[in-house]
Amino acid sequence: MRTPLCDLLGIDVPVIQAPMGGAAGPELAAAVSNAGALGTLPLSWASPAEVADAVARTRALTQKPFALNFLFNSPQEERVEAALAAGAPIISLGWGDPAALIPRVHDGGARVLVTVGTAAEARHAADAGADVIVAQGWEAGGHVWGTVATLALVPAVVDAVAPVPVVAAGGIADGRGLAAVLALGAAGAWVGTRFLAAEESSAHADYRKRLFAATEADTFYGMLFDIGGPDAPHRVLRNSTVERWQEAGRPASGDRPGEGESVATREGGSSVPRYASSTPSEGMTGDIEATSMWAGQGVALLTRTQPAAEIVRDLVGEAERVLAALP
Ligand SMILES: Cc1cc2nc3c(=O)[nH]c(=O)nc-3n(C[C@H](O)[C@H](O)[C@H](O)COP(=O)(O)O)c2cc1C
Repeated sequence: MRTPLCDLLGIDVPVIQAPMGGAAGPELAAAVSNAGALGTLPLSWASPAEVADAVARTRALTQKPFALNFLFNSPQEERVEAALAAGAPIISLGWGDPAALIPRVHDGGARVLVTVGTAAEARHAADAGADVIVAQGWEAGGHVWGTVATLALVPAVVDAVAPVPVVAAGGIADGRGLAAVLALGAAGAWVGTRFLAAEESSAHADYRKRLFAATEADTFYGMLFDIGGPDAPHRVLRNSTVERWQEAGRPASGDRPGEGESVATREGGSSVPRYASSTPSEGMTGDIEATSMWAGQGVALLTRTQPAAEIVRDLVGEAERVLAALP
C-alpha cells in the first residue's frame, strides 16, 4: 500500500506512529520504522543533549527514517536546532503557529509535519511551507488541539491544502480506520492509542489492562489533568479521579477532591500529584488507575499486547482487505 506520503517521507506504508510523551521512546519508534511505517519520538520536554541522545539511540536501532516531535507548549528553537544538528530527517510541530520555524527546519535539511485542528490552520501551515499536514480530530487520545471530529475535519483539510498531503489522526485504531481516512482523501494515518498496546511502548502494565477493558464510551474529554499541563484539553480513560471530581460538582482547579495529594511515584522518584498531566509509564508505582491514562475513542479496538511490527502489518493488511471488498 503506497501513497504520495511514502515517497515524500521515505517509508513503505502510509502509517505514522504518533508521538506519545511517556509512552513512545527509541525502541517503539525504531520498531515501527523498521516495519516500514514512520516512528516518532516525542521530545517537547527534553534538553538539547537529550534530543541528541534520543536521535543517536534510535539511529542505533534503525537505518530507516523517523520523526522528532516538538510542541509549542514552550519555546522549541533550541531543541529543534539540536535535532537538526543530530541529523533528524523529519520534524513534527504542533500546538501553536509553526510559521517562523519551518524555514529553519528546511534549511537544516529536514521535512516538516504540522498538526492542525481546522482547515484555516492547515492553510496557514501549508502557506508557510509545511510538507505534510496532520489533521488531528477530537476523538484523539492525549492532548487534543481542536474540537472537530476526524470524519468532518479530514476532507475539509484535504480540500484546503491540496496537493499537500494530509495525514489523519484521532480514533484510527485498526485497518478499517486506515481505509476510511484514505477514502476521505488522507494520504496516511497518524495512530497513537493503538501503539500503546505495542510490546515496545513504555505504557504501564495496569494502564494497558485498562486500555484493553475500555469501550469507546469510556473516555473523558476536558481540562482536568492540568498540573504540569495547564490550559490543554485532553482525552483520558474515565477513572476514579474523573468520577470523584464529577460527583463533587466539577469544582474549579485548586478546589477539587484530593487536590494536593500524591497518587503515584515516577521511576526517578518524583511524586505524581492527583490531577497531574503525567503518562503512567513502566516503573511508576502507586495508584496507576488514578493517573492521567491518555486514550482516544478508538480504545475499544485494543485487545492485546503485540509487537509494533505486527500492529503495522495488521493495520495495512486489514485496510487492503477492506478496500478490496468495497462494492
Ligand atoms: C499517551 C499519549 C501521549 C501523547 N503525547 C503527545 C506528544 O507528546 N506530542 C504530540 O504531538 N501528541 C501527543 N499525543 C497525541 C498523539 O500524537 C495523537 O495525536 C493521538 O494519539 C491520535 O489519536 P488516537 O490516540 O486516537 O490514535 C499523545 C497521545 C497519547 C495517547
